[in-house]
Amino acid sequence: MKKRIKIVDALRGEQVGQPVTVMGWVRSFRNNQFIALNDGSCFGSLQIVVDIDKLGLETAKRLTAGAAISVDGLLIASQGKGQTVEVTAQQLEILGDCPADEYPLQLKNRPSLEYLREIAHLRFRTNTFGAIFRVRHALSFAIHQFYNQRGFVCMHSPIITGSDAEGAGEMFRVTTLPLDKLPKTADGKVDFKQDFFEKSTHLTVSGQLEAELAALALGQVYTFGPTFRAENSNTSRHLAEFWMIEPEVAFADLTDNMNLAEDMLKYVIEYALTHCREDLDFLNQRFAEEDKSKPVAERAEMGLLEKLQFCLKEPFQRLTYTEAIEILKNSTPNKKGKFKYPIKAWGADLQSEHERYLVEKHFKKPVILTDYPMEIKAFYMRQNNDGKTVAAMDILFPGIGEIIGGSQREERLEKLKQRMLDMHIPIEEMQWFLDTRRFGSCPHAGFGLGFERLILFITGMTNIRDVIPFPRFPGSATF
Ligand code: 4AD
Ligand code: MG
Repeated sequence: MKKRIKIVDALRGEQVGQPVTVMGWVRSFRNNQFIALNDGSCFGSLQIVVDIDKLGLETAKRLTAGAAISVDGLLIASQGKGQTVEVTAQQLEILGDCPADEYPLQLKNRPSLEYLREIAHLRFRTNTFGAIFRVRHALSFAIHQFYNQRGFVCMHSPIITGSDAEGAGEMFRVTTLPLDKLPKTADGKVDFKQDFFEKSTHLTVSGQLEAELAALALGQVYTFGPTFRAENSNTSRHLAEFWMIEPEVAFADLTDNMNLAEDMLKYVIEYALTHCREDLDFLNQRFAEEDKSKPVAERAEMGLLEKLQFCLKEPFQRLTYTEAIEILKNSTPNKKGKFKYPIKAWGADLQSEHERYLVEKHFKKPVILTDYPMEIKAFYMRQNNDGKTVAAMDILFPGIGEIIGGSQREERLEKLKQRMLDMHIPIEEMQWFLDTRRFGSCPHAGFGLGFERLILFITGMTNIRDVIPFPRFPGSATF
């Protein structure tokens, strides 16, 4: 194919005065003269100026929104307002028509996010989703860059797992057994010996346990992969398939873990602010428009960009679960019975209404809660000396709630084994995990960042189904 210049490069204007070839999709065609052409390389569109007499009416009619075209012309400094450069077309070829009467993405009636979710195969073409998925890419790159700069090894943890010990959520089974004719053992149970892996397997809910194995040899590792949870949570914060970043560090305690998490979050927010400016400016404007349509009491205190910048400036608020419970117990909504789940005593699991109160009303900044009651946390978290809490941490973000969950890990073999016994975790099947504690165990810590929750925060979107290309949630696995 002919060599084309990308629109992002054309708009930089360095090639003004030169002949160029550009290809893209028509966003609009107005006054029989101006095409707004977008090729996805950036938010902006390039203006193409055509001479209708040269072009012919037949071709002009085919310049509908969504049509793919190739244009040869001269890149010049623009005379008009609203753009610095434009292309005067010398030759225009329609690569793919887009019939206006059938195309669902017409500029006139801005489609709702709900509708766009139903046509997720086309929503990439809108301004909003173009911006979101460029930001998603930038964040993924920034995360790898952050860990690479710090000497972490990227570790690909398995997607199919034979261990179901994490207890992070309901799992999806993986099997090749015929569902209509399941082989049975003598005592009537499903005979997984005849299954592909000769055992029962699932999609992973977390790469952490495998990351621990690697960290206890490579020192600092992280996973960045898809994870799966079959919990029936039909919320704007949960997906059945989501991507998680899980660093795991040897010779590190809970404070090191909190520092790493805070540094990482600030690094990637800063990265987005410097590298995704055009997309974020658009999302900022979008956020402001959405906000205006809400009742005054529900409006955000800060704009999107303001909120992101604010997060960089302030250290996150760190406090223990016990301190948080005191604040919540004495809070106005608790006293006035406004919480759906009133906080009565120490030990209660925090609901999202409590997390949001702490972050949005009380501290008005990101919060790191530590040292949760042992009973409400996973078996692998390090037991504190008080005998009732563990060295856990959750990071809570405004508008999101929990964005990160992690802990220092229990590195003492006997304590870990006892906790597993108490929680009915099959120790025999977990010998590989316990081996790390048998052979050269050491203090170590890690956490998991939900990638889509991070993107939600940075793009200012409100539904997690809009920040992953093809969301999976109860009742839906289209595309
Ligand atoms: O708190 P979680 O369940 O922690 C773990 O899985 C640990 N193994 C992490 C670790 O220590 N290595 O999940 C971690 C994060 C949450 O804070 C949240 O951001 C995100 O993953 N998350 C989800 N995101 C989207 N949809 C869901 N259903 C999610 N469940 C958790
Ligand atoms: Mg959690």
